Amino acid sequence: MEGDPRAALQQLAQSCAECRRCSLAEARQQVVVSRGNPRAALMVIGEGPGAQEDASGSPFVGRAGQLLDRMLESVGIDSNRDAYICNVVKCRPPENRKPTLQEMTACLPWLQQQVELVQPQVLLLAGATAVEGVLGIKGGITRLRGQWQRWQGRWCLPIFHPSYLLRNPSREPETPKWHTWQDLKAVRDRLEQLRAAPEATVDSSGDP
Ligand code: URA
Ligand code: URA
Repeated sequence: MEGDPRAALQQLAQSCAECRRCSLAEARQQVVVSRGNPRAALMVIGEGPGAQEDASGSPFVGRAGQLLDRMLESVGIDSNRDAYICNVVKCRPPENRKPTLQEMTACLPWLQQQVELVQPQVLLLAGATAVEGVLGIKGGITRLRGQWQRWQGRWCLPIFHPSYLLRNPSREPETPKWHTWQDLKAVRDRLEQLRAAPEATVDSSGDP
């Protein structure tokens, strides 16, 4: 297949397994690189691995990941078939603390390579930390969620982190979960639109 990224991604996973660019390497069990489809049009980017991810080596497999899967499924997106899932940092921060800016910066070249190899058309940024790590915008996920951005010529949508939704389970209108569901429907519609009328994935201008 033309431009099949699998071999290069395997190489990348091997390099990640040996990475010592930050101190998160010291306590990790496994480097958590990705799951899902490396040719998917959708890339989901979370914050970093938790305990279950650290133990299994796959991102978003714990309770938050299961909620993410169910919510994607409810808009017709199969997380392993239709998405490529990864995180801003690839190693578990101790006690699940937020990764530092230094850790995110050290890890960002790996994510950058993943984006270049997978060539997603739409990036879903789960939570304020992913927004900060990728877009460099700090805080205000309540304001930013649901607002389409362009990043390196790709569509990019911040959403609430599924862990936050686990703590806020109401589906009533205007609740975080309800908003996330609207956001995911917008993602599905965007992906359908792009399939119907493909555009160049990356603008030559790079402008928003
Ligand atoms: N939370 C994240 O941000 N990423 C994971 O992989 C798991 C939980
Ligand atoms: N279905 C709903 O009605 N709400 C959600 O948040 C997810 C799926």
